[in-house]
Amino acid sequence: MNKLYYIETFGCQMNVHESEKIAGILVNLGYAETSDRAQANIIVFNTCCIRDTAEKKIFGNIGELKILKKIDKSRIIVIVGCMTQQDGMAEVIATKFPFVDIILGTSNIHLLKEKIEELELRRQRKRGKIISIDNTEKPEVIENVTPYRTSYPNAWVNIMYGCNNFCAYCIVPYVRGRERSREPELIIEEVRSLVKAGYKEITLLGQNVDSYGSDRTDGANFYTLLTKLKEIEGKFRLRFMTSHPKDLSEEVIKLIAETPNFCNNIHLPVQAGSNAVLKAMNRKYDRERYFYLIDTIRKYMPDCGITSDIMVGFPGETEEDFQDTLDLVRRVQYHNAFTFIYSPRKGTVAAKMEQIPYAIKKDRISRLIALQNQITLTLSEAFVGKVKEVLVEDAPKENLLCGRTDCGRLVNFSGDKSLIGQFVNVRIDKNKASALWGEIVNE
Ligand code: 5AD
Ligand code: SF4
Repeated sequence: MNKLYYIETFGCQMNVHESEKIAGILVNLGYAETSDRAQANIIVFNTCCIRDTAEKKIFGNIGELKILKKIDKSRIIVIVGCMTQQDGMAEVIATKFPFVDIILGTSNIHLLKEKIEELELRRQRKRGKIISIDNTEKPEVIENVTPYRTSYPNAWVNIMYGCNNFCAYCIVPYVRGRERSREPELIIEEVRSLVKAGYKEITLLGQNVDSYGSDRTDGANFYTLLTKLKEIEGKFRLRFMTSHPKDLSEEVIKLIAETPNFCNNIHLPVQAGSNAVLKAMNRKYDRERYFYLIDTIRKYMPDCGITSDIMVGFPGETEEDFQDTLDLVRRVQYHNAFTFIYSPRKGTVAAKMEQIPYAIKKDRISRLIALQNQITLTLSEAFVGKVKEVLVEDAPKENLLCGRTDCGRLVNFSGDKSLIGQFVNVRIDKNKASALWGEIVNE
C-alpha cells in the first residue's frame, strides 16, 4: 500500500500553490494523498504569519499533532512556510513542539525529498530533527519542482517571488526576501503547456505582479510578459494577483481590456483611504492616484470587477482617517473587499508605533464590513436577469455547480459535474445574501 500524505495549507494563494509543489515532491516519492490526518504517514503544515490570528491558529493546530505522533512514532511531521522564516521562530517551534521532525523555510521547500531521506538516516542513529532555513535576501529561484495540481480547471503560475516594498505593517518582505522574477520564457512555456493540457484558467502569482522584471537585465516587465502571453492560442482565462496601485500602468490596463483571454478583473488593494495613513503605511501612492487608476480601469473596462484588501486600525488612524476609507469605498464601489484588522507583526516598522485600542478597531471593521456588504448586495442585484459566460469550476454538492464570470463573480447553478472545466452561459435569476444563483441557458 502507498504511504499517505496530508497537507494543511494556511494563508494565501501563493501558499496554496506551494502546497501543490510539496505534493509534487511527495507524489514523486511514492506517497498518495489522504484527507484524514490520522491515516497520514507524513503530515505537512504550510504556514502563514500575516496576522496574529493566523499564527495563533497554526500553533493550536500543531499542538494537536502531538497525539498523532504518539500513536505512530514513525509518522513524519513537517512545518514549512512563512511562519518558520520569522526571526527565531524555527527554534521556538522546535522547542515548543519537540515531536516536529522537519522545519523548512519558504525558499527551501524543494529540499523536502533530501530532508526526508536525511531524517530516515538520522532516525536510525537516533538523532534529532532537521531545521533548514535560508536567510539570504535573494534565495535562488527553483525551477525543477513539478507541482501536483489540485485545482483544475484553474492553475496557479508563479511569475515572481518576494517583495521589495516594505509596507510598514507587512511581514512578507521579511519572510520571503527580495523580488526575484522568473524567466519570461519559462513562464510562457508553463502557461502554454497548461492550456494545452486543458486548464481553462491561469492565475499568475506574485506579491506585486506589476513590478515583475525589475530585477532582470533583459528588459522584461509585466507588460512585455502579458504581450507574449496574449499570443497563446486557445480559449482560456488569465487572471493575476496582486497588483500594486503605485505600479499598475495604463498600458497594462489597456492590454487587459483589449485581450479577450485576459479577465476583466483586477484585485487592487487600497489598504486605507486616508492620505496620512497611506503615507504612514509606506504605500507610495495617495487616494488621488488610486481614484485615477479606478477611473482608467473603468474607462477601458466599464464592467471590470474590482476587488480590494482594506485594513482598519493602523497605528495613528483617527476617526477622520477612517471616514476617508469609508468615503473611498463608497466612491469606488468594489465588487468585493477583504477586510482586516491591523495586527502588529514583530520586526515591522508599524509594530513599534503607538497602537490603537482593539475595541476601536473592532468597531471600525464592523462599520466597514456593513458598508461593503451593502455595496456588494446592490452590485449583485444588477446581475439579476443577465446572461453571463461562466467557467464551471466546482461541484460542491450533487447536481450543484459553481463557477465565476469573467469579472470574477461566483455563480451557483444546477448541472452535472462532468461540466467542470467547460464554459457555459448562465442566466442569473436571483441574488441570495450576495450569492448569485442561475440556470444554464443555450444562448
Ligand atoms: N495586519 C492586518 N492585515 C495585514 N495584511 C498584511 N499585513 C497585515 C497586518 N499586519 C493584509 C493586507 C494585505 C493582505 C494580504 O493582508 O491587506 O493586502
Ligand atoms: Fe506586504 Fe506591501 Fe509587499 Fe504586499 S506590497 S507583500 S502588503 S510589503
